[in-house]
Amino acid sequence: MTVHIGPLAPGHAGEALTIQRAAYVTEAQHYNAPHIPPLMETVAELRADLESGVLALGAWLDTRLVGCVRGRVAGDRMEVARFVVAPDTQGRGIGTLLLKAVEAAAPPTVRTLWLVTGAASEGNLRLYRRSGYVVVGNRADSAGVPLSLLEKRVSD
Ligand SMILES: CC(C)(COP(=O)(O)OP(=O)(O)OC[C@H]1O[C@@H](n2cnc3c(N)ncnc32)[C@H](O)[C@@H]1OP(=O)(O)O)[C@@H](O)C(=O)NCCC(=O)NCCS
Repeated sequence: MTVHIGPLAPGHAGEALTIQRAAYVTEAQHYNAPHIPPLMETVAELRADLESGVLALGAWLDTRLVGCVRGRVAGDRMEVARFVVAPDTQGRGIGTLLLKAVEAAAPPTVRTLWLVTGAASEGNLRLYRRSGYVVVGNRADSAGVPLSLLEKRVSD
Protein backbone atom coordinates (compact mmCIF):
# COMPACT_ATOMS: atom_id res chain seq x y z
CA MET A 1 0.00 0.00 0.00
CA THR A 2 1.55 3.30 -1.03
CA VAL A 3 0.24 6.35 0.77
CA HIS A 4 1.10 9.77 -0.58
CA ILE A 5 0.77 12.77 1.72
CA GLY A 6 0.51 16.26 0.26
CA PRO A 7 -1.17 19.65 0.59
CA LEU A 8 -4.96 19.91 0.43
CA ALA A 9 -6.10 22.61 -2.02
CA PRO A 10 -9.49 24.38 -2.13
CA GLY A 11 -10.41 22.12 -5.05
CA HIS A 12 -10.32 19.14 -2.68
CA ALA A 13 -13.07 20.58 -0.45
CA GLY A 14 -15.83 18.31 -1.78
CA GLU A 15 -13.84 15.09 -1.41
CA ALA A 16 -12.53 16.20 1.98
CA LEU A 17 -16.02 16.91 3.30
CA THR A 18 -17.23 13.51 2.09
CA ILE A 19 -14.47 11.76 4.07
CA GLN A 20 -15.04 13.99 7.09
CA ARG A 21 -18.74 13.21 7.18
CA ALA A 22 -18.23 9.48 6.73
CA ALA A 23 -15.54 9.32 9.40
CA TYR A 24 -17.35 11.41 12.03
CA VAL A 25 -20.67 9.57 11.71
CA THR A 26 -19.17 6.80 13.85
CA GLU A 27 -18.28 9.34 16.54
CA ALA A 28 -21.75 10.92 16.31
CA GLN A 29 -23.39 7.53 16.76
CA HIS A 30 -21.12 6.76 19.70
CA TYR A 31 -22.29 9.92 21.51
CA ASN A 32 -25.83 9.98 20.07
CA ALA A 33 -25.01 13.50 18.87
CA PRO A 34 -25.71 14.10 15.16
CA HIS A 35 -24.87 17.82 15.33
CA ILE A 36 -21.22 17.66 16.35
CA PRO A 37 -19.25 20.52 14.69
CA PRO A 38 -17.36 18.39 12.10
CA LEU A 39 -20.71 17.14 10.80
CA MET A 40 -22.15 20.65 10.63
CA GLU A 41 -19.32 22.15 8.56
CA THR A 42 -20.50 22.98 5.02
CA VAL A 43 -18.51 22.53 1.84
CA ALA A 44 -18.39 26.34 1.47
CA GLU A 45 -16.93 26.69 4.97
CA LEU A 46 -14.40 23.95 4.34
CA ARG A 47 -13.37 25.50 1.02
CA ALA A 48 -13.06 28.94 2.65
CA ASP A 49 -10.84 27.42 5.35
CA LEU A 50 -8.57 25.86 2.71
CA GLU A 51 -8.49 29.17 0.80
CA SER A 52 -7.49 30.99 4.01
CA GLY A 53 -4.12 29.26 3.89
CA VAL A 54 -4.70 27.02 6.93
CA LEU A 55 -2.15 24.19 7.12
CA ALA A 56 -4.06 21.32 5.50
CA LEU A 57 -2.78 17.93 4.39
CA GLY A 58 -4.36 15.00 2.60
CA ALA A 59 -3.43 11.33 2.27
CA TRP A 60 -3.93 9.65 -1.07
CA LEU A 61 -4.02 5.97 -2.02
CA ASP A 62 -3.17 6.23 -5.70
CA THR A 63 -5.60 8.93 -6.88
CA ARG A 64 -8.12 8.47 -4.06
CA LEU A 65 -8.14 10.96 -1.20
CA VAL A 66 -8.55 8.86 1.95
CA GLY A 67 -7.51 11.15 4.80
CA CYS A 68 -7.29 14.80 5.82
CA VAL A 69 -6.03 16.93 8.67
CA ARG A 70 -5.80 20.65 9.38
CA GLY A 71 -3.38 22.52 11.62
CA ARG A 72 -4.51 25.83 13.13
CA VAL A 73 -1.62 27.96 14.34
CA ALA A 74 -2.16 30.65 17.00
CA GLY A 75 0.98 32.07 18.58
CA ASP A 76 3.21 29.23 19.71
CA ARG A 77 0.40 26.67 19.67
CA MET A 78 -1.09 24.60 16.86
CA GLU A 79 -4.42 22.79 17.03
CA VAL A 80 -4.62 19.52 15.12
CA ALA A 81 -8.18 19.60 13.76
CA ARG A 82 -10.56 17.72 11.47
CA PHE A 83 -8.30 14.66 11.53
CA VAL A 84 -10.08 11.95 9.53
CA VAL A 85 -9.47 8.77 7.55
CA ALA A 86 -12.10 7.18 5.29
CA PRO A 87 -13.81 4.38 7.25
CA ASP A 88 -12.85 1.58 4.85
CA THR A 89 -9.16 2.51 5.01
CA GLN A 90 -8.83 2.98 8.80
CA GLY A 91 -6.57 0.75 10.90
CA ARG A 92 -3.74 0.62 8.34
CA GLY A 93 -1.52 3.35 9.75
CA ILE A 94 -2.74 6.18 7.49
CA GLY A 95 -3.94 8.25 10.45
CA THR A 96 -0.61 7.86 12.23
CA LEU A 97 1.24 8.97 9.07
CA LEU A 98 -1.02 12.02 8.65
CA LEU A 99 -0.60 13.03 12.28
CA LYS A 100 3.21 12.81 11.99
CA ALA A 101 3.08 14.81 8.72
CA VAL A 102 1.01 17.70 10.13
CA GLU A 103 3.22 17.83 13.22
CA ALA A 104 6.32 17.98 10.99
CA ALA A 105 4.75 20.75 8.88
CA ALA A 106 4.10 23.03 11.89
CA PRO A 107 6.02 26.31 11.72
CA PRO A 108 9.16 26.36 13.90
CA THR A 109 7.55 28.92 16.22
CA VAL A 110 5.06 26.27 17.39
CA ARG A 111 6.03 24.83 20.80
CA THR A 112 2.80 23.06 21.75
CA LEU A 113 0.49 20.86 19.68
CA TRP A 114 -3.02 20.39 21.01
CA LEU A 115 -6.29 18.75 20.05
CA VAL A 116 -9.62 17.65 21.44
CA THR A 117 -11.24 14.27 21.09
CA GLY A 118 -14.29 12.53 22.52
CA ALA A 119 -13.58 11.69 26.15
CA ALA A 120 -14.86 8.14 25.56
CA SER A 121 -13.20 7.64 22.15
CA GLU A 122 -10.74 5.01 23.34
CA GLY A 123 -9.23 4.27 19.91
CA ASN A 124 -8.45 7.94 19.31
CA LEU A 125 -7.03 8.37 22.82
CA ARG A 126 -4.78 5.32 22.29
CA LEU A 127 -3.47 6.75 19.02
CA TYR A 128 -2.77 10.16 20.57
CA ARG A 129 -1.09 8.73 23.67
CA ARG A 130 1.09 6.56 21.46
CA SER A 131 2.01 9.73 19.54
CA GLY A 132 3.08 11.53 22.72
CA TYR A 133 -0.02 13.54 23.66
CA VAL A 134 -1.22 13.75 27.26
CA VAL A 135 -4.68 14.65 28.57
CA VAL A 136 -4.55 18.11 30.18
CA GLY A 137 -8.23 18.94 30.61
CA ASN A 138 -11.85 18.37 29.78
CA ARG A 139 -14.59 20.41 28.14
CA ALA A 140 -17.78 19.92 26.15
CA ASP A 141 -18.40 20.80 22.51
CA SER A 142 -21.37 22.81 21.20
CA ALA A 143 -23.42 19.60 20.96
CA GLY A 144 -22.71 18.82 24.64
CA VAL A 145 -20.32 15.94 23.88
CA PRO A 146 -17.65 15.53 26.59
CA LEU A 147 -14.19 16.11 25.16
CA SER A 148 -10.68 15.50 26.41
CA LEU A 149 -8.08 18.18 25.70
CA LEU A 150 -4.65 16.76 24.87
CA GLU A 151 -1.30 18.44 24.40
CA LYS A 152 2.18 17.55 23.23
CA ARG A 153 5.28 19.70 23.64
CA VAL A 154 7.40 20.04 20.52
CA SER A 155 10.88 18.68 21.16
CA ASP A 156 13.93 20.75 20.14
C1 LIG B 1 -8.82 8.84 14.26
C2 LIG B 1 -8.55 8.34 12.85
C3 LIG B 1 -8.20 9.54 11.96
C4 LIG B 1 -7.35 7.35 12.89
O1 LIG B 1 -7.06 6.93 11.56
P1 LIG B 1 -6.50 5.46 11.23
O2 LIG B 1 -5.96 5.51 9.85
O3 LIG B 1 -7.52 4.44 11.54
O4 LIG B 1 -5.29 5.37 12.29
P2 LIG B 1 -4.15 4.23 12.35
O5 LIG B 1 -4.45 3.16 11.36
O6 LIG B 1 -2.84 4.92 12.27
O7 LIG B 1 -4.32 3.68 13.82
C5 LIG B 1 -5.53 3.01 14.20
C6 LIG B 1 -5.23 1.61 14.68
O8 LIG B 1 -4.73 0.84 13.60
C7 LIG B 1 -3.51 0.19 14.00
N1 LIG B 1 -2.66 0.04 12.84
C8 LIG B 1 -1.83 0.94 12.31
N2 LIG B 1 -1.19 0.42 11.25
C9 LIG B 1 -1.67 -0.82 11.09
C10 LIG B 1 -1.43 -1.86 10.17
N3 LIG B 1 -0.54 -1.71 9.18
N4 LIG B 1 -2.12 -3.01 10.30
C11 LIG B 1 -3.00 -3.16 11.30
N5 LIG B 1 -3.29 -2.21 12.20
C12 LIG B 1 -2.62 -1.07 12.10
C13 LIG B 1 -2.94 1.12 15.01
O9 LIG B 1 -2.01 0.46 15.84
C14 LIG B 1 -4.17 1.53 15.75
O10 LIG B 1 -4.52 0.49 16.63
P3 LIG B 1 -5.34 0.73 17.98
O11 LIG B 1 -6.73 1.13 17.57
O12 LIG B 1 -5.30 -0.59 18.66
O13 LIG B 1 -4.66 1.79 18.76
C15 LIG B 1 -9.78 7.58 12.27
O14 LIG B 1 -10.09 6.52 13.12
C16 LIG B 1 -11.02 8.45 12.09
O15 LIG B 1 -11.20 9.07 11.05
N6 LIG B 1 -11.92 8.47 13.11
C17 LIG B 1 -13.18 9.18 13.04
C18 LIG B 1 -12.99 10.68 13.15
C19 LIG B 1 -12.26 11.03 14.41
O16 LIG B 1 -12.64 10.61 15.49
N7 LIG B 1 -11.18 11.82 14.26
C20 LIG B 1 -10.36 12.24 15.37
C21 LIG B 1 -10.98 13.37 16.04
S1 LIG B 1 -10.00 13.95 17.37
